[in-house]
Amino acid sequence: MLQNIEKILEEARQFNAETREEIEQFRIRYLGKKGVLADLFKNFKQVPAEQKKEVGQKINQLKQFISSRIEELILAASVEVTGKESTDLTLPGPPLQLGARHPISIVRNQIIDIFGRLGFTISEGPEIEDDWHVFSALNFPPEHPARDMQDTFFIEKDPDILLRTHTSSVQVRVMEKEKPPIRTISPGRVFRNEAISARAHCIFHQVEGLYIDENVSFADLKQILLYFTHEMFGKDVDIRLRPSYFPFTEPSAEMDINCQICGGKGCNVCKYSGWLEILGCGMVDPNVLEFTGIDSKKYTGYAFGMGIERVAMLKYQVRDLRLYFENDIRFLEQFQAAH
Ligand code: PHE
Repeated sequence: MLQNIEKILEEARQFNAETREEIEQFRIRYLGKKGVLADLFKNFKQVPAEQKKEVGQKINQLKQFISSRIEELILAASVEVTGKESTDLTLPGPPLQLGARHPISIVRNQIIDIFGRLGFTISEGPEIEDDWHVFSALNFPPEHPARDMQDTFFIEKDPDILLRTHTSSVQVRVMEKEKPPIRTISPGRVFRNEAISARAHCIFHQVEGLYIDENVSFADLKQILLYFTHEMFGKDVDIRLRPSYFPFTEPSAEMDINCQICGGKGCNVCKYSGWLEILGCGMVDPNVLEFTGIDSKKYTGYAFGMGIERVAMLKYQVRDLRLYFENDIRFLEQFQAAH
């Protein structure tokens, strides 16, 4: 009898089932009214008195084993022996993969937020532009190298149609349409025919700003850029303005901030200078005002433009620009939007 019980236990151990029918058959075979266990209990009467204790314990163990094995199988198959599909409503749902905002969107929103607090509106314009809005109205001489095929994506059939290389084109559209005072920023995607590397991409994002009113001065520009830098990078970050050249601003400057990668000590990103360029700016050239129908004797204005990738790179210490475009979830999920 004991040997028989061991054999049954071994059989039950080996048993596996996936469908509810199989499990039900297993249950009937062992625990049913005419099942294996019922037989054992029947035969129990004939067991000699001195063995009854041991055999009784073994049969009970076997019964327990089979009951818990059935429960296990049911759980695994997630079905009820009664035949109905079961859903355990107390189980937590399968985890959802939550998306995160792209770092470029986070930084763009922060820039919009900072300038929004200073009264700047948002302007948008087309990505496919014409020569007038991207170059001519911005005082680019006809032979200016920036119009060169190497920088600009032209449409083969018509050299007048091109992909905008900066969002200054949006500012031209605003100046043509609106009367001063004008205070607006233009975030958007821009295109340049450049080889893709850690530092350059043929598609990137800019935010350009424009303020036109009576008596706007370079000091106003400097103040607003300092405010922006402190809001974006923190109060302890300094700015430095270097004279530069843009056809549409006079005077023109480029702005550097303390290198956020090395903290100003010098590294290969800032070429050991401790400073990194983040934007171009200047006073709107009177020619541009006149081209767009604004009286340059009455009004002055400033403009600035920055690359969002660059700002994000410094803020998050990303050394390779290509990461922004590869859409690798392991990269993207590291950024948290503050709002
Ligand atoms: N449009 C310039 C660029 O794309 C940036 C800029 C904007 C410079 C406004 C001066 C003033 O590089």
